[in-house]
Amino acid sequence: MEQKENPCPHTGVLNIIDPEYTAHPQPAYARVLANHRVAKSIAMHSPILSRYEDVVFALRHPEIFSSEMDMQVLLGTKRPMIPQQIDPPRQTRYRKILDLRFSRPRMQALEPELRRHAQQLIDGFVERGECEFDQEFAVPLPCAAFLTLMGLPQEELDLFLELKNGIIRPPVDPMDMIAATEFRMKTGERIYAYFEKAIADRRARPQDDMVTYLTTVDFDGRPLSDEEILDICYLLLLGGLDTVTATLGCSMAYLASNPEQRRKLVAKPELIPNAVEELLRWETPVSLVPRVLKQNVTIGDVELREGALVNILLGAANVDPAEFPDAMNVDFERENNRHISFGAGAHRCLGSHLARMELRAALEEWHKRIPEYQIKPGAVPNVSPGIREQLYLPLVWSA
Ligand code: HEM
Repeated sequence: MEQKENPCPHTGVLNIIDPEYTAHPQPAYARVLANHRVAKSIAMHSPILSRYEDVVFALRHPEIFSSEMDMQVLLGTKRPMIPQQIDPPRQTRYRKILDLRFSRPRMQALEPELRRHAQQLIDGFVERGECEFDQEFAVPLPCAAFLTLMGLPQEELDLFLELKNGIIRPPVDPMDMIAATEFRMKTGERIYAYFEKAIADRRARPQDDMVTYLTTVDFDGRPLSDEEILDICYLLLLGGLDTVTATLGCSMAYLASNPEQRRKLVAKPELIPNAVEELLRWETPVSLVPRVLKQNVTIGDVELREGALVNILLGAANVDPAEFPDAMNVDFERENNRHISFGAGAHRCLGSHLARMELRAALEEWHKRIPEYQIKPGAVPNVSPGIREQLYLPLVWSA
């Protein structure tokens, strides 16, 4: 669908590439919520929805707010990723076969191995009294879980990180869009080639893993084609790695900077599952999701036009006082926490059971071994825009 420029009277109230915003976006969210029903960022041409009510409405109405948009330049893809870039009812049919494979009991079965891996990572640095949290814990842990889930060899961890980073953060000048697109397209080719080989291999030698499941599952009375399997695997690679890494980093940066809150979890580890939810709400690492309008729609005093791109600011909706009492307060005992950090409606996160298990187990294992820690004095953490990953988070404790 052709994308059109959208008029918006409230341009410039957010600057989503400002480092202060990416590190601590909540005050800006509160400002937007208080003043503008439809806002517009300095670095973006399309309007932003921020109120909980509007955001949930948009996510629950894919017939108006469509996920079918051309993201080739940003994602290096040749076709839409399944199921994220297609709309219901076709999307719902894919979700039916995928949801079975990502159920809570299946994800819980991965927990003992994930805990062992978390313990091994901690063993590697606990005596040193410091670590760079992103590279030494937040990146490798979800990546290992992903490889186990997919049935791919752990030795390929570095390759997977290279492929994922080649799409999400291509190693070129950030202002050089042409170089970034070229790098993404080349990386995309490598991702397709990798999974093409894995699919051929599982067809020849079936195993008990995700790729084999996709080659054998019945989809409306027929098998999935190789292209469909590739388009699912491509999405799992992009959706399953950075998101958990980013959430772990943001959660630990918060706990390192707020010792009273952290000590509550150490004293009462049974609060950790609730704290995971509250930190997901407060930090909302996947802060924004795009949609394209399939018809004109009026939100407040702004008419949004068919064909235009709209940004849905999950992070702002998660601190909307109309939904969350005392929204700017982080409360690990919050009740009825209906945060939308995993989205809502048809496209709600497929991997939420896996992500929750990983976050809970990681925070439990960490605080058993390292209850007291802080951000290294003088260090300035570096948070990426978009998916808010703490790319540099040095932590120290007494060894
Ligand atoms: C804390 C970690 C995670 C967060 C915050 C997160 C967030 C999200 C969000 C906000 C969406 C909705 C996107 C939209 O509406 O356009 C989504 C969708 C999705 N997520 Fe996650 N995610 C996480 C972990 C994972 C994991 C571990 C996987 C898989 C291994 C995964 C796979 C997916 C897939 C496949 C979709 C698309 C679902 C569909 O379109 O039907 N996610 N996620």
